Amino acid sequence: MTDLFDTSLSSLSRIADPVLEMHNVNLVIKRDDLIDPDVSGNKWRKLKYNVLQCEQYKNEGILTFGGAYSNHLVATAAACYKAGLKSVGVVRGEELTPESNDTLRRCKDLGMHLHFVSREEYHLRDERYYHEELLAGFPNLHVVPEGGANYWGMIGCQELIGEIQQPFDRIVVAQGTTTTSCGILLGLSEHQKLTAVPALKGFDSFTEMHSRFGKSGIDTETIEQLLEKTEILDAFHFGGYAKYDEVLIDFMRMFHKSHGVQLDHVYTGKAMFALWEQIKLGRYDGESIVFLHTGGLQGIAGLEERMGEKLY
Ligand SMILES: Cc1ncc(COP(=O)(O)O)c(C=O)c1O
Repeated sequence: MTDLFDTSLSSLSRIADPVLEMHNVNLVIKRDDLIDPDVSGNKWRKLKYNVLQCEQYKNEGILTFGGAYSNHLVATAAACYKAGLKSVGVVRGEELTPESNDTLRRCKDLGMHLHFVSREEYHLRDERYYHEELLAGFPNLHVVPEGGANYWGMIGCQELIGEIQQPFDRIVVAQGTTTTSCGILLGLSEHQKLTAVPALKGFDSFTEMHSRFGKSGIDTETIEQLLEKTEILDAFHFGGYAKYDEVLIDFMRMFHKSHGVQLDHVYTGKAMFALWEQIKLGRYDGESIVFLHTGGLQGIAGLEERMGEKLY
């Protein structure tokens, strides 16, 4: 188990670029993408305490939910495989099979039992009675919501701040369920700020974050103090979840060529694009910034299949 939770590969990479020099910005990337090829980035952070819960409550494994290209499903399959636990993935789309794409194939190879359900049934994924129905068929498993979005996931993300052994003013991260950004907020000190970049169009980040903190029993005054440190850049979804265009792809290729860091098109590419635009506008002049690389690189194979060419 110790190896599974080792984060020593998540280094801090300093980025040197004329744009940063011009604006006197010190930018480092916290390389959570390097933690593990399958349990990469924030997935690892979100799964750590969920896996430990299984040990504590003598559960045989984890049952969780995801779409056909879910980073979280692969990460759960891999974490459970490494921890010697069972894994069951409830997948949206009854027409799919374990051979439908690389993500599902990888889940299957890592020993995950894939349970395909209709879109209507998938809508029930957060209902307790539905969990009970599922657990009747797959007994003694710990249920983890889609995207690893629970209290344990948030606490796992909080820990990463303690690994950044240098002063910084701002941390920038992509946002989906808000679990990672809420966890980060809990770890920041008084004057540090969070910038979150939602991957979804029309996502109400502040309401979602408020609700996530509230569900974890945090009082309203504390939630408001935490949200005051937060900036949301909501104009960088590129048309919606997993949508992309040439501008985004060109930026990701340019970034890889200049700095040797691969980004994905669903989360980290959009977040870095948003950050770069703000830096060019002079909005963060003089700041020390940490960009959290939350992984997601396993999704690139699916993108390349759709593009019909290599991305990097
Ligand atoms: C690569 C990657 N980055 C960022 C996120 C967003 O994290 P969260 O859902 O915790 O907001 C996700 C989704 O979980 C992801 O897969």
